[in-house]
Parts: sequence; structure tokens; C-alpha cells
Amino acid sequence: MLTLRDPSQGNGGRTVHSIERVEGPNLVLRLIRPDDAEYLHALRINPLYNAHLSAVNGTADDQRRWIEAYRVREAAGLEYYYVIERRDGTRCGVVRLYGIVDDHFNWGSWILDHHKPPKAALESAVLSLASGFSLPGKIRAFIDVRRANTHAQSFYRRFGMTEIHADSHNIYFTYDRATFERDQARHLSVLTGDQT
Ligand SMILES: CC(C)(COP(=O)(O)OP(=O)(O)OC[C@H]1O[C@@H](n2cnc3c(N)ncnc32)[C@H](O)[C@@H]1OP(=O)(O)O)[C@@H](O)C(=O)NCCC(=O)NCCS
Repeated sequence: MLTLRDPSQGNGGRTVHSIERVEGPNLVLRLIRPDDAEYLHALRINPLYNAHLSAVNGTADDQRRWIEAYRVREAAGLEYYYVIERRDGTRCGVVRLYGIVDDHFNWGSWILDHHKPPKAALESAVLSLASGFSLPGKIRAFIDVRRANTHAQSFYRRFGMTEIHADSHNIYFTYDRATFERDQARHLSVLTGDQT
């Protein structure tokens, strides 16, 4: 198990972590359930959020069936789809680890909605990547982003992800465990207000 700790807060600053549930200072990541289908469907069909994501056709009921099928991959350890919640339990987004094989995983399907607290982007990235890198032997994450999604690209570059390839549709980034471990204390300090 990987435990993140804010150095300024001693034991009280622990970030609780298991694959099912990842807790940070202001957010909790928990695995998606079939009863999240309406929430996920609403996010995926919302033009505010889906401009740079693959299109979802179908109904909330189709989404529920998709989540049920996904749970087979979850049980096999191939994919973990998280709902991002505020500490008060309000859902504010989703993020997914998928294609978890060999020494790597893919990271994406990341959405934050209008319920997100300040710095939710940084915290949800840190918590979900912590989950991926806590898996045995996983040392690298792969991330792809549509060329037009300059907002997400800015986040990835600022976070320290490295561009490795580009084609006419996408830019491809990688991010390694060593960089994550080097930077995690700094990220946690930002999240707990210990530094800006
Ligand atoms: C992509 C997405 C999840 C990013 O979330 P966001 O809230 O817009 O992210 P931002 O880059 O604006 O960063 C949010 C906050 O984190 C802070 N932050 C970002 N990177 C940081 C870093 N490396 N260090 C410190 N702070 C950082 C920002 O300053 C900002 O702070 P604030 O909330 O207090 O203003 C969101 O825009 C979204 O849902 N987009 C639609 C779906 C999408 O395109 N997903 C990505 C597919 S590849």
C-alpha cells in the first residue's frame, strides 16, 4: 500500500489509500457502482464536459449495463473507475485507470463538474495516480489527450507529464512513478495550504 503523507501534519496528515477507496485532504475516490449510471451518463452527455471525450451514445440504462460489464474488468484488476467525491459525499467527477497490464496503466476519462472544491484537479490527479502506482510493478502511466484540449494539456505539462508522441488527433503523454514519488510531498503541501 502506498501512503501519502503531508510532512507538515505528521500522522494526522495521512492520505488513506486502498484500491477501493482513496482519501485525500478534500476529496475521496471510490469505485464506481451501477447506481452511479445516471450521474456518469449526465456528465458524458454534458457539452460542458464532453467536447474532448469520446462520444457516449445511449441512455442511462445503457450506461448502467456498461458499468456492470466494467466490473468484470475491475474484478480482474484490469481497470479501476473512480467516482470523485467531496468529503461531504457530493459527487464532483470521475477518473479511470484502464489497460492495467505489465509495468503500466492508462489514465483518463477524467471529468470534474461544478461541485468540485478548489484544487480538485490537482488532488484527484494525485490520488488516482497514487492508486495506479500502488499496484505491484506499475512504474509508468500513459495519458492521451485531444489536440484541441489545450486546457487539459496545460495541466498535464504543469504536473510534470512528458509528451512522447503526437498524431493528427491526439497528443500522448507519459508519467512515471519516480517523478510521482519525487513530487508527491510538494503536491500534498499545495493541497493542505502549506504552500502556494
Ligand atoms: C480536465 C479537467 C478535469 C481539469 O480540471 P480543472 O479544474 O479545469 O483544472 P485546472 O487546470 O483549471 O486546475 C484546477 C486547480 O488546480 C490548480 N493546479 C493545477 N495544476 C496544479 C499544479 N501542478 N500545482 C498546483 N496547483 C495546480 C489550479 O491552479 C486550479 O486551482 P483552483 O481550483 O484553486 O483555481 C476539467 O477541466 C474537465 O472536466 N474538463 C472536461 C473533460 C476533459 O477534458 N477531461 C480530460 C480528458 S483528456
